[in-house]
Order: sequence, then C-alpha cells, then structure tokens
Amino acid sequence: MPGILVVCYSRTGTTRAVAVALAKCLHADFEEIIEPVDRSGVLGYVRSIVDALLSRKGLIKPMRYDPAQYDVVVIGTPVWAGTMSTPVRSWLCRNRRELRRVAFFCTEHRRGEATAFKDLEKLAGKTPVARCALPGNLRAQEEQRIIGLFATRIERHLDRTREYEWMA
Ligand SMILES: Cc1cc2nc3c(=O)[nH]c(=O)nc-3n(C[C@H](O)[C@H](O)[C@H](O)COP(=O)(O)O)c2cc1C
Repeated sequence: MPGILVVCYSRTGTTRAVAVALAKCLHADFEEIIEPVDRSGVLGYVRSIVDALLSRKGLIKPMRYDPAQYDVVVIGTPVWAGTMSTPVRSWLCRNRRELRRVAFFCTEHRRGEATAFKDLEKLAGKTPVARCALPGNLRAQEEQRIIGLFATRIERHLDRTREYEWMA
C-alpha cells in the first residue's frame, strides 16, 4: 500500500496550495481534479454557483493515480454555495466505491463547511478519519499550523489502524 493520496479541485488556486502543502507534510501523492470546462470570470462563477445548487455532476479528465491503492484518500474542495464543488462531486461519484478511508478538507470565504462536510460524508458513504476547514482570512503562519495539525491527525489514525491490523 503506498499510503496516502491527496486529491483536490481548485478554481482559483487556494485549495491547490493547501493540498500541495498537506501532501508535502504527509509525504503523500498529490493529484488535481481537472475539468474540460471553463469556470473563469463572472460567467464561470455564476455557472459554478448554479451547478453546486443543483448538485450537478460533470466530466472530469482521467486521473493518474488509482484511489483504490491507498490507505487514506484526502479530498479537498472549495466550498461552493454551502456544499462541495462540482468537480469534487463528479470525482467522488466516480470513485466512492474504491475508497478505503477518507479525510476531507475545504477552503472557504467564511461559511458553509458544516453542510459541505455533511454532503461529502453522505456521498462518500464513509465517516472521515479527519476533517479540516480553512477560512480565507487566516494568516499564512496560522494556516500552516492548521495544515500540520490536520496531517498529524491523519497520520495518528493510520498508525493506530496499522497497529490494530498487525495485532489482529
Ligand atoms: C461558485 C462559488 C461559490 C462559493 N460559495 C461559498 C460559500 O458558500 N461559502 C464560503 O464561505 N465561500 C464560498 N466561496 C468562496 C470559496 O469557497 C473560496 O474562495 C475558496 O477558498 C476558493 O478556493 P479555490 O481558490 O481553490 O477555488 C464560493 C466560491 C465560488 C467560486
């Protein structure tokens, strides 16, 4: 088992930056979910709001890593209209049956993480081993600290599980 995979979608780079920092902390593989859809500008923003409100799914490009090969898959999304982003919904619908354990994180302006986590959990059909919300007003140092704590929680869970599996 290679361990941990971090996947994320990012429209404007915030979630990607967190995902890259987290993958570095965890020595994890990292992959970004890419859509063949332009979500830039005001039109892209409106389109994204509507897609999220209607819980739409869309096309996503084929991915390099197979999530079934990992102990834990960490899924990162920006909060869109109080839920997960459309590309993350598309990825989860496609891969949820392959996931052993999951952890979730989201970036947001300032609210919506509770409903976003609830929707992620429901769609994944799994309770996450850890979750983390990062609002947009955090200072860089505070953000690094929270990412570090989140990584520690995921690692501790993995250590406990491996110990248990070894003893069983
Ligand atoms: C379509 C859309 C809907 C959003 N809805 C919310 C929301 O409900 N609550 C919130 O706090 N932020 C909301 N935001 C802000 C983003 O969650 C936030 O800026 C996020 O960090 C952007 O991540 P990204 O740069 O990885 O795309 C929304 C942004 C977009 C584009």
